[in-house]
This record gives sequence, C-alpha cells and structure tokens, in this order.
Amino acid sequence: MSDHVSDAITTVSDDAIKHSDVDEDMMSVVASLTSPRRYVPSWYLYDTRGSELCEEQIQKSKTYKLWQHEYSILQTHADDIVSKVSYPAVLVDLGSGASSKTRLIIEAMLKRGGRFTFVPVDMAKEFIETCGRQLDTDYPGLTVEPFVGLYMDGVRHVAAREEPKLLLWLGSSFGNVPVHQEVKMLHDIRAQLSDKDRLVLGMDMNTDREALSQAYGDQWIPLLRDNLISRYNKDFAGNMDAEKFKHIFEFVENPPDGDTPSYVVKSLSSSGKQRVHFGKLGLDIDFEDGERVYFCEGPNTSSKWNLGQLRRLAERSGFAVEAHWTNDEENYCVICLVVADVDQHSV
Ligand SMILES: C[S@@+](CC[C@H](N)C(=O)[O-])C[C@H]1O[C@@H](n2cnc3c(N)ncnc32)[C@H](O)[C@@H]1O
Repeated sequence: MSDHVSDAITTVSDDAIKHSDVDEDMMSVVASLTSPRRYVPSWYLYDTRGSELCEEQIQKSKTYKLWQHEYSILQTHADDIVSKVSYPAVLVDLGSGASSKTRLIIEAMLKRGGRFTFVPVDMAKEFIETCGRQLDTDYPGLTVEPFVGLYMDGVRHVAAREEPKLLLWLGSSFGNVPVHQEVKMLHDIRAQLSDKDRLVLGMDMNTDREALSQAYGDQWIPLLRDNLISRYNKDFAGNMDAEKFKHIFEFVENPPDGDTPSYVVKSLSSSGKQRVHFGKLGLDIDFEDGERVYFCEGPNTSSKWNLGQLRRLAERSGFAVEAHWTNDEENYCVICLVVADVDQHSV
C-alpha cells in the first residue's frame, strides 16, 4: 500500500525479507526505504512522539508560520465555512493530528447546528484516539469517531453516510501529495462526494525563498531525523545512527502561470558510505555517501500554490471553487470546493 494511492512499487523481493511479524503498512515503509529513490511515507513521521513534536513545533515556531496563518483565517471565517453545508452534517478531518485548529470549526458547527459527529482520519492511532477523547470531554455536543487509516480510506469510510459532509484537509498537508498525483487524488475524493458535501483545504502560498529556508531549517531535526530514525530502529530492530544523516532543505520554484506549484524538497543525506541492518527484516541497506532519503513519494513536499493554480487544480479534478479566504499577508489560503458537473471532467 502506498501513502496516497494503492500501487507503490515494492522493490524488495519477498525472499529478501523476513516479514513474519511485519504488517502491510509497515511493509510499505520498507518498500519506500528500499526503492531506487528512497523515501519516507509522510504518515510514518507521525507516531505518537512524532505527532507531539510536530504539534509543539508548529505552534511555537517563530519562522514556520503555517499554523498561525491558517488559525487566523479559520478564526475569522469559521462561521462562513460551516455555513456551506446544511445540518445535521458530519465533520471529517483528513490528517487530523491534534485537530487544534479544527476546534474553531467544531465550535462554529456546534453553535450553528447543535450535536454532530466528528471523524478525525489519521494513521497516528494512539495520538488521534487520545485527542479524540479530549475533544469528547471538551465538547459535550460532539460524538467523536476516530478512523485510523490513509486519507482515501477515510474518505471512503464516510462516503455512505447520509448527512452532508464537511471534509477538512488542513495544515497544507495536501502539499505532500506528489504533484503528478494531485489531480487524481482530488478526482478520487470527488467521486465519493455529492453536491451537498464540501471539501475545505488549507494551502500555503508562500514562495519567499529566504522565509522558507528559515521555516524548513534545522528546527525540524528532532522530528524529521531523530524521531524518524528512532522509529525505524524500534519498528524494524535497526541500528541506524541519526548522527550519520544530515537534514537538507531545497526549494524548487516553478513558473507561477504553469499548473505545477513551487515546492520544498526535504531529505536526509547519508554522511559517508554506510550499511544499516534491520534485524526484524533480516535486511541490510547500503547507503552511498550523500545518498538521500526523501520525505515524500513524489518530487515535492510542502507545495506552494497561487490562486490561479488552485483554481485550475480544482477544475481539472471535477471541483469548482465555491469560496476562498486568505490571511492579511495573502500568503495562505483556505479554499472551499464543491463538486462540479461530472460529465465535463475526466482524468
Ligand atoms: C502536519 S500534520 C497536520 C495536522 C493537522 N491537520 C494540522 O493542520 O495541524 C499531518 C497529519 O497527517 C497525517 N498523515 C500524513 N499522511 C497521511 C496519510 N497518507 N493518510 C492519513 N494521514 C496522514 C499525519 O499522521 C499527521 O497527523
């Protein structure tokens, strides 16, 4: 199973690995680490400790401002956003994490329509279950039904529900979908929705190279290197040494009038030639000096769009933009999509 679609290339031959105690999700992690272009499925960064580290960092960072930008938009426009669906509705949070900004939407929905069901969707099982219990306690009118799985599985899980659905995909997490799969991913989601539903995405629009190099710098090492490598070692009985990998940030700027957004490329680079052993898999992995492990299946992490690109992306995926809201600096956007006429769109 791949991070976003179901056809990951498994490059480790079956007899090269002992996989008696390794489940399907974990085999997809091994496949991505041993593929010709080594990468980490984005959900794998977020075990419980990774989720805590991420939440701490995004809320306190002085240079990574996405959380604050999105929070300010939701704070101002939550009532407008929730007015896009009729009631009673179901609220779905794709890649929910701590759902810290989602609280603004929950409060607006409770104010407007009373009791409703909230479905946080995430691979970080313990973390979203703990956060879900806290939300249950904090909001008596809420029924929280966490769904542990990949984004598309979560969308399919709620598709059959009769109530209108408000799907959130916040934190610019859509920016980690490989650029060549963005249209297919949205098109697949669109196929599960009706005209009563809405998909609300938070999208980063900041392309200031200097600001980005500060935002995505070494402050992320505890999450992207240390915790990740400790998770690899724990899950697969490995001997990977975090100190032997360097955290690298790059920025790829694409023409603003083209369809491909600009994006960040994050990776770990091997300091020297080294061999890593994963005892649970009976597997050795050789790294060349400077060889990379990328933080995404595609070329991009953290895509950066402009409004024209967002509008075209929506249209190419069978959606129309019903509304959008930006922050004062106009470098972050929350966009509300509604299904467009099916017959006019194909992928
Ligand atoms: C950067 S956090 C965003 C959390 C929250 N939505 C916010 O805006 O603050 C991304 C979340 O998406 C989850 N995630 C990443 N890839 C996923 C996937 N393919 N399917 C389901 N969840 C995923 C991670 O576990 C993590 O909790």
